[in-house]
Amino acid sequence: MTDYLIAPSILSADFARLGDDVAQVLQAGADVVHFDVMDNHYVPNLTIGPMVCKALRDYGIQAAIDVHLMVKPVDSLVPQFAEAGASIITFHPEASDHIDRTLGLIKEQGCQAGLVFNPATPLSYLDYVMDKVDVILLMSVNPGFGGQSFIDGTLDKLRQVRRRIDESGRNIRLEIDGGVKVDNIRAIAEAGADMFVAGSAIFSQPDYKTVIDQMRSELAK
Ligand code: DX5
Ligand code: ZN
Repeated sequence: MTDYLIAPSILSADFARLGDDVAQVLQAGADVVHFDVMDNHYVPNLTIGPMVCKALRDYGIQAAIDVHLMVKPVDSLVPQFAEAGASIITFHPEASDHIDRTLGLIKEQGCQAGLVFNPATPLSYLDYVMDKVDVILLMSVNPGFGGQSFIDGTLDKLRQVRRRIDESGRNIRLEIDGGVKVDNIRAIAEAGADMFVAGSAIFSQPDYKTVIDQMRSELAK
């Protein structure tokens, strides 16, 4: 059976009481903390940096922290996030001048490394680095904001990436980010994803456990 991971995006969490809110969503059954970093340059929004990642670790959060860098340039933030306690660091290939170098830098810092594909970013960026990625993240919305609708064309892209991962014989996570809800998570899993970022779908509900349980029962069908 596939080992599915649910990764709430803290972009939709309550920033005024972030530690408690993250602890609560993990208590409710989430597996991974998805941490969206936006720089108001690569994407038109501004969020949080390494200090906040470190603050979550200092607060006692032990789950894997999945840092999604929507920033340009990328490299200078990699050691800072590794130092701050990141477990996984993903970046958008078009935001890095030297993709192979950035992937190497992330691994050297002891983190898992991944590439992120916007809805219109070609998969050819994977051509020469399949042996270096631990995670492939497909955006199913244009990056920058929570609460957008899932772009259906991503399902076909997921199938293509799933094929490439299976052919590679490597253990690579296929992560999906944007517009994931209880009512579409099963179709997304059937298309090949095994790690699900969900922000508004979880944090907009009063009871996180109910939503996460519903997602898991959809995945178990
Ligand atoms: C968008 C971010 C997402 C976002 C997802 O740029 O990368 O992680 O928070 O939010 P929802 O699940 O609300 O689409
Ligand atoms: Zn994200």
